[in-house]
Order: sequence, then structure tokens, then C-alpha cells
Amino acid sequence: MERFSLPVPVTEIREIRDKLFLLSFECEQIAEKTKCGQFVHIKCSDALFLRRPISVFSVEGNVVSIVFEVRGKGTEALSKKKVGDLIDVLGPLGCGYSVEKFKGKKVWLIGGGIGIFPLYMAAAAYGLDSAAILGYKTASLVAFDKEFAFTGAHVDVVTDDGSYGEKGFVTDMFKKRLETEKPDAVFACGPMPMLKGVYAICKENDIYCEVSLEERMACGLGACLCCVTPVKTGDDTVENLTVCRNGPVFKGSEVF
Ligand SMILES: Cc1cc2nc3c(=O)[nH]c(=O)nc-3n(C[C@H](O)[C@H](O)[C@H](O)COP(=O)(O)OP(=O)(O)OC[C@H]3O[C@@H](n4cnc5c(N)ncnc54)[C@H](O)[C@@H]3O)c2cc1C
Ligand code: FES
Repeated sequence: MERFSLPVPVTEIREIRDKLFLLSFECEQIAEKTKCGQFVHIKCSDALFLRRPISVFSVEGNVVSIVFEVRGKGTEALSKKKVGDLIDVLGPLGCGYSVEKFKGKKVWLIGGGIGIFPLYMAAAAYGLDSAAILGYKTASLVAFDKEFAFTGAHVDVVTDDGSYGEKGFVTDMFKKRLETEKPDAVFACGPMPMLKGVYAICKENDIYCEVSLEERMACGLGACLCCVTPVKTGDDTVENLTVCRNGPVFKGSEVF
């Protein structure tokens, strides 16, 4: 797998809503190689030893964009970058979704919270062949639903409190949509309970499912083993695999 570690110039940084930022940087090598579901590992500040993993949101020409929520010191430092600043980015890393395999098929993208961002490249690749179910806690956290819709994907938005879109969880909307149609595959990203719920519905309805896992990471390269998780690699075999290198995307049947 080809990857690059480069100082790259920030070309855009924009606060989308409170504590949510879109940051774009120019890097031909990373732009050329990135697949949907892969991430970049960013040195957010000289004061922080560890890089922070952030999924690639989109690639346009040589420009790679990420969308991140400010959670702690790393993302806070990243949010302070200015256009023209150089940031040290390692990527693209990990294994993404099987987008090519399902070209021309009906794929549903199910994302919750910050988990919606790694799915955008799939919506852009599939357009009308995809449907997205995007879940947020409340209206003030809704973001990028319009961008998903611009790809041609059918978009359903749900909020936990019903303040925007339909009230409920993504799993409720998933079941509702299944009453009238069934996809060939589901790609999901979000909190673990959501992923478990999505996979359970896929299993019940015999739908192929891939999920992206989130783990605390250090090296991002499969060397330090701080992100290992048990993965079913055979009928009776469970192996401890790294989320950063073997994932973050796995078949639902491998992890649940
Ligand atoms: C593969 C992958 C893709 C991700 N994509 C996105 C994205 O597109 N947008 C987004 O907003 N966030 C994403 N995250 C989560 C993001 O990496 C964390 O929010 C970020 O690392 C927090 O760093 P911090 O310094 O701000 O917070 P702190 O809590 O101060 O971080 C302290 C340490 O914990 C680690 N850490 C903390 N929370 C997480 C977490 N949830 N996952 C992994 N490491 C963590 C940091 O790397 C750091 O080493 C992704 C995580 C992974 C693993
Ligand atoms: S972060 Fe080091 S092995 Fe995954």
C-alpha cells in the first residue's frame, strides 16, 4: 500500500457549525491514492507527540478535505490552522469500503454523528444508486446532509429528539426503508452501538454489510498494536487485528 508523509499547505479552513471544521489541503499523491473510508494521520501541533486520525471526506483534483469535530488538544490545534500553513499529513492509511465491488448496485450508507463523513466519497461515487441515512443527536448538529443530497443520493435525516428530519435512530429509518426496498450492501460508520444495531438488521435481512471502527491510535501503521481488535477471520478463528492497518473498515460479520 502506497502512503506518503508530507508537509502540505492548507488551502481552506472553515467552521461549519460550533466545533465542526472543514479543512482542505493540497497533496497530489494523497489525492490520487485515497479510497473511500481511508484516513489521514495528522500532526496537529509540534507540542503533541501523537498524530490524530481523521477520515478523508472528499477528494477534488489535488485537494483533499477532512471534516472534524474539536474534541481535545489535537483537534483544537488543528482548528487554529490558517490558509497557507503547512501541516504534516501521513496517508492515505487503512483499508476503506468496497466501493468498486458494488458499482452499479444499490448501496445504502448509514452514518451517525461524525460517522457520516467517511461515507461521503461513496455517495459521490454512486450518486443515484445510493441512499444515505444520516443520524444526529439534534438539529444544531446537522451538517452536510445537503452535500450528500447533491450527489443524487436519496437522503433521510433522523435526529434523536426529532428537531430536524424524522425522530428516531438510523436503525429505525433503516427498518422503515426496508419495508419497501432492499439494498445490495450497506456501508456504516458511527458509534459502536449503532454499528451493532445496523449489522443485526443486515444479518436478519441477509444484506452484505461493512462497518468502519473507531479506535484510539498511535502509529496508524500497524506497528504499535495499540488499536488491535478481535476479528473473526474463519469459522472458528478469531485474530487480533489492527484497526489502523487491517481496518478501519471490516465486514460486519467479522466483528460482531
Ligand atoms: C479511523 C478514524 C477516523 C476518524 N475520522 C474522524 C473524522 O472524520 N472526523 C472526526 O471529527 N473525528 C474522526 N475520528 C476521531 C478523531 O481521531 C478523534 O476525535 C481525535 O483523535 C481526538 O483527538 P484530540 O487530541 O482532539 O482529543 P484527545 O481526547 O485530547 O486525544 C487524546 C488521544 O486520544 C486519541 N483519541 C481520542 N479520541 C479518539 C477517538 N475517538 N478515536 C481515536 N483516537 C482518539 C488521540 O489520537 C490522542 O492520542 C476518527 C478516528 C479514527 C480512529
Ligand atoms: S495505531 Fe499503531 S498499530 Fe494501530
